Amino acid sequence: MTGAGPGDEGLADQQRVSVVTGGALGIGGATSRRLAADGDLVVLNDIDEAAAEKTCAEITGAGGQVVPVVGDIVDDAVVDQVLAKVRDLGRIDVLVNNVGDFRPASKTFLHSKPEQWQRLHELNLLHVLKVTHALLPMMVDQGSGTIVNNSTVEAFRGIPGNAAYSAYNAGVSAFTRSLAVEVGRHGVRVNAIAPDLADTPQTSAQAMLRGRDPDLVRHWLPLGRFGRVDDYAAVIAFLASDEARFVTGHTVPVDGGTLAASGWYGRADGKGWTNMPDNP
Ligand SMILES: NC(=O)c1ccc[n+]([C@@H]2O[C@H](COP(=O)([O-])OP(=O)(O)OC[C@H]3O[C@@H](n4cnc5c(N)ncnc54)[C@H](O)[C@@H]3O)[C@@H](O)[C@H]2O)c1
Repeated sequence: MTGAGPGDEGLADQQRVSVVTGGALGIGGATSRRLAADGDLVVLNDIDEAAAEKTCAEITGAGGQVVPVVGDIVDDAVVDQVLAKVRDLGRIDVLVNNVGDFRPASKTFLHSKPEQWQRLHELNLLHVLKVTHALLPMMVDQGSGTIVNNSTVEAFRGIPGNAAYSAYNAGVSAFTRSLAVEVGRHGVRVNAIAPDLADTPQTSAQAMLRGRDPDLVRHWLPLGRFGRVDDYAAVIAFLASDEARFVTGHTVPVDGGTLAASGWYGRADGKGWTNMPDNP
């Protein structure tokens, strides 16, 4: 795949360069489309070439600018390619470390294997450090830049069967806090979002419902529906924008209220709430 769209003409005055990892599908796809629609030139990394091609075509079709980098972001050579693209463009304004996946998990930690923890570590925490480490020097030299990491509500709430995933995402939120303190004096802000219940390829509404009545969803979340990818992209876009210029070091839950509810559900009969969902 090659660079696509008006990006070939170079950067316009004041135009931002944004990097989105896992930028083809799900929350990352919505983020790439949103940042490009807002006028950024997006460097879109994704492991899925066909999906990257499709999202790049959507962006350029809508008049946006995007440069693809296809490959596994855990791989140092791919991180180097992202850095090379950004160097060619001459600046980096926004880095969205979006890649993450719970699926290498085991049903229980007790029966899990170290190989599973290793892949969870690479997919959820290690690349966040690698990509940030590669691109941060350019932000520091510029004296500006903003990083938005993708954590999860399970960094703050227990999730059985996913102890390692949860630990690595708690690491993402801790990294976000500490790095924000370290680099604030260089004009660089670092924040994160903590999604829950997004309807994406990783956690589709169909898979979450498992044949159950979609009407039940309004009892499961205070806001009464699953998240749409644009709900998450909107918060990432805000944190990456100058509107959030005095916000750094935070992880913002984007969860329809599940973290606030912490185990409270609307009763099936509509009469109040229960924290014992088997007991209406
Ligand atoms: N879906 C949810 O409800 C939910 C909940 C909590 C946290 N999150 C977090 O949000 C982020 C995005 O989740 P999603 O549901 O949109 O994911 P998704 O799996 O639907 O999409 C991920 C995108 O990243 C790409 N990708 C996967 N592995 C990659 C790799 N190694 N290198 C480069 N690209 C890669 C995929 O091809 C895809 O385009 C993840 O960090 C996830 O942990 C999601």
